[in-house]
Amino acid sequence: MRQIVVRGNRSLLGSVRIVGAKNSALKVMAASLLTEEPVTLTNVPAIRDVDIMSEVLRGLGLEVERRADRIDISGGAGPLSYGADFDQVSRMRASIIVLGPLVARLGRARVAMPGGCNIGMRKIDLHIRGLEKLGVRIDVDQAAIEARADELVGARVPLDFPSVGATENIMMAATLAKGTTILENAAREPEIVDLADCLNKMGADISGAGSSTIVIEGVERLGGVEFPVIPDRIEASTFMVASAATGGDVTVSSVRPAHLGMIIKKLRQCGCEVTVSDKAVNVKGRPDKAVNISTLPYPGFPTDMQAPFMALLSLAAGKSVITENVFENRFTFVHELAKLGADIEVSNHHAVINGDRCFSGGSVKAPDLRAGAGLVIAGLAARGRVEISDIHHIERGYENLTGRLRALGADIELVEDGSVVSMTADDPEPAVPLPEIPDTKAGLS
Ligand code: UD1
Repeated sequence: MRQIVVRGNRSLLGSVRIVGAKNSALKVMAASLLTEEPVTLTNVPAIRDVDIMSEVLRGLGLEVERRADRIDISGGAGPLSYGADFDQVSRMRASIIVLGPLVARLGRARVAMPGGCNIGMRKIDLHIRGLEKLGVRIDVDQAAIEARADELVGARVPLDFPSVGATENIMMAATLAKGTTILENAAREPEIVDLADCLNKMGADISGAGSSTIVIEGVERLGGVEFPVIPDRIEASTFMVASAATGGDVTVSSVRPAHLGMIIKKLRQCGCEVTVSDKAVNVKGRPDKAVNISTLPYPGFPTDMQAPFMALLSLAAGKSVITENVFENRFTFVHELAKLGADIEVSNHHAVINGDRCFSGGSVKAPDLRAGAGLVIAGLAARGRVEISDIHHIERGYENLTGRLRALGADIELVEDGSVVSMTADDPEPAVPLPEIPDTKAGLS
């Protein structure tokens, strides 16, 4: 059994370099299906979800080779399979992102129905309806989604909700469609802009990414590319909140501060000192005031930072209210946080956090990736020893979290079957291989 063990109540001090964004890396990897030519990605994080996406692409016929933070993808000219491996897809919901590129390139795709997950029903109706508008015929059975098209034709595609995944799937499919696609009410996340930048570098003709209307002029073919992934704003935000929870003084470097606007604003509102420079942000001090938060699509407050902030706001004086507007059932970690001393009342999609609490030691389980990060943050602030299990969720999306927190002064260890797994801040990968994910219901985030 793998666990994170943390003895808290120590201020984090120092600087941490932020790695490439998980939610961008996975999508630009999927974009490699759109070309016959080699694709090289740099600044790719060493996380399990990237390993799973590598396996999904290998299963489709591509060669994927990793060296440090660089991934080389080739073999696109060879025969590709249209069917994504069931086991891999069910381990990571983000694999649904291969649907659009596959059907655009091969005229056919079969992708296993993504598994359930721990943060509510994550539907794919918007992906399906958008692709149908481009002329794709879709059949859904209990096991898989089958997509076929003789030809993709550009169309006006209004989305009911600015879904990140649907925007990306439709945008990728539309790059090889005949004519113009106008994607309305599109998601505006920085990862969408990164994917559009990568596709344009491959020869696509996309404008408007980052706004609500994206226009894609279809092209005949896409070429190879060498592309650096943007810094991970959620990882950066996690370290910023960890600093605040410990009354620390931490600088996150290699970031794009413009992507961290809401986090900077909320940390300042709760009393922390935040200093922004060109590619770095420093967070100093503890939260001393309650604040209210409503999660929203970008540029609103990111739902992925809801759980880490819930841990933080438990420490600030007063009552804070968090409203979750993006996902159903994303308060699953409240009862885990309560085991460490939090006092939170949940009513539908609102959570009232009674602050001024002091976390104590205990054993908790990470219910999903970002809730796992929230529990680590609570542990860093706790007076006592906190043991966190089910950490495969955390390893899906954070590169060497324990080693990098230790470099900031945390008393934190990765423990396997009772023995400490040795890792330093510089180790890109654990000293022992990551074990298989024990369940098939991996969430996405
Ligand atoms: C992506 C991110 C995740 C982040 C989320 C919202 C990745 C790998 N993950 O997930 O970290 O939390 O954006 O910022 O990039 N929905 C539908 N129908 C659909 C698609 C979505 O109803 O066809 C709903 C979902 O159930 C959810 C909401 O829309 O309630 C947002 O989902 P979406 O923006 O699609 O998130 P993901 O792309 O799954």
